[in-house]
Amino acid sequence: MRAASQAQPNIALVKYWGKRDAALNLPVVGSISITLESLWTRTDVRFVPGHKEDRVSLNGRSDEAEGKRIKACLNLLRERAGVDYGAEVASRNNFPTAAGLASSASGFAALVHAGARALGLDLSLAEQSVLARRCSGSAARSLFGGYVEWAHGTLADGTDSVARPLLDAEAWPLRVAVAITSTAAKQVGSTEGMRRTAETSPYQSAWIDTQETDLGVARDAIRERDFDALARIAEYSCLKMHALALAAQPGLLYWNGATVECMHRVRALRQQGVPVFFTVDAGPQVKAVCAPSAIEQVKAALRDVAGVLDVLDTALGEGARAIVPEAVEA
Ligand code: PMV
Repeated sequence: MRAASQAQPNIALVKYWGKRDAALNLPVVGSISITLESLWTRTDVRFVPGHKEDRVSLNGRSDEAEGKRIKACLNLLRERAGVDYGAEVASRNNFPTAAGLASSASGFAALVHAGARALGLDLSLAEQSVLARRCSGSAARSLFGGYVEWAHGTLADGTDSVARPLLDAEAWPLRVAVAITSTAAKQVGSTEGMRRTAETSPYQSAWIDTQETDLGVARDAIRERDFDALARIAEYSCLKMHALALAAQPGLLYWNGATVECMHRVRALRQQGVPVFFTVDAGPQVKAVCAPSAIEQVKAALRDVAGVLDVLDTALGEGARAIVPEAVEA
């Protein structure tokens, strides 16, 4: 009753923002993301018949808030398997947690992938994507590698709000530089931010109405490996999501000064002919997506921005996969 898995964070190029059902984590819009390679979560799950409690360790420590979400996720798996055993979960990230790098996406994708196998559940990746979505929305996308689309779905039970792969990472091997501009935990989490936006932002309906067009443009750009088209739609979707959230009351301002300066720097590079574009999620880090040939130049340019603490670098990677439990603590 033990299994371990690895999953990586994903970064949305056409953003998810807004829930049509908060309990089931059903999104009001579809989204398209890329799965990263060298940042990972590794999780070891063991169910112990007779045990009532769950024991959770994250990076070697217990964390009450995350522990609650993990327990809720384990409950979904137990319900599915018809058992009530407690679990021992050990999970490790090789990148800073809660620094706007989607650690919940890789975390819940790895947990569902390992937990399902530990319980002997024979679930397809699509079924695992549905379960992961209920634990953390964007985790639905981290089950798959490369370029991934998560459908908003229309069914009330959410069984059609599932992610699917669009294109393998090797088919278009872009790189991502992540400029870390703050390591403080964000003030307004995405669930509260989405709720506030839906209730108060006057742009909510325009956001929903224009998303299908954006998804179509991004799908075409990915199919045709058209970098300029992907750059335009990704920056547009990112800025539109932030404009929507900025117009909430009180406004959601996820950027700091270095975030804005990094965005300018990326645009200046692109104007000079360097194939690079930015995207920013509900936090101050800037992700610069570029052609492999441009990665060193992009990293150097971001490092040069005042207020940038560190620049991480990753290729695009695969989806969730089984690993040996020993690899979690290695
Ligand atoms: O999965 P959540 O609830 O953390 O929401 C993620 C929201 C964004 O990262 C801002 C956009 C996205 O599509 O990942």
